[in-house]
Amino acid sequence: MSNKAKARTKRPVIAIDGPAGAGKSTVAKAIASMFGLRYVSTGHFYRAVALKALRLRVDLTSAESLTALARSTDITICQDAQGDSRTLLDGEDVTDSLTSPEVDACVSEVARVPGVRLALLDRQRSLLCEGGVVMDGRDIGTVVAPDADVKIFLVATLEERVRRRLAQARERGCETCHGAVADGVAHRDRIDSEREVAPLRPAPDAVIIDTTGKTPEETIAEVARLVVCATGDRAPTPVSSRAEGERACST
Ligand code: DC
Repeated sequence: MSNKAKARTKRPVIAIDGPAGAGKSTVAKAIASMFGLRYVSTGHFYRAVALKALRLRVDLTSAESLTALARSTDITICQDAQGDSRTLLDGEDVTDSLTSPEVDACVSEVARVPGVRLALLDRQRSLLCEGGVVMDGRDIGTVVAPDADVKIFLVATLEERVRRRLAQARERGCETCHGAVADGVAHRDRIDSEREVAPLRPAPDAVIIDTTGKTPEETIAEVARLVVCATGDRAPTPVSSRAEGERACST
């Protein structure tokens, strides 16, 4: 089969980028569930390296040490029986530890190191070979999957993103205050946007969606329309309706 024919039959790749709290994972999970695609959060790669660095007390200011750590770390993204994404760090399921306040506080510092990004790039790209993936992150549309079929860049005001992060933390039983969450989100925004390699920004051909004041279902419906529109006859039939989106949303 020619490369062009392959490109026409390959299952779609959907890239969803944006800052923390813009709604990426909620939307990406729901779209993956609706269209029968695989969901991959690339943030988990960086979080896994950050977690290992914390455990081994690696100097977080040493780009060399962090790069060596990323190169020698095995990270596997797989799905459990319920279809939820799990992350294995050197074979250990660490999914539930990846969103701890300790990892939150240092992951942007780890992700800004060019050697760490390079070490993780091929692993992220290898998940795209067969297509059929919804991938979220900061540089999916610009660097990891510049040929993605659909590129979405979600934004929301800082206040709204902080409100969502606060609600998520409380749901997990994590006691924290508005000021601490706001400082953390603003700090990560700054590092993610100002770093030298693969900074957070929309690809020129990305569709920018402001999720401020929208329900998850409204954003999911908007993205689903774009997927159908851009992938045409390659768009898998949505598995179901709104109810499926709502179930995925609440995870
Ligand atoms: O999406 P997240 O909050 O799990 O991301 C964690 C950190 O990793 C965040 O600081 C941004 C960084 N990241 C990145 O630089 N590039 C990606 N493709 C995904 C995440």
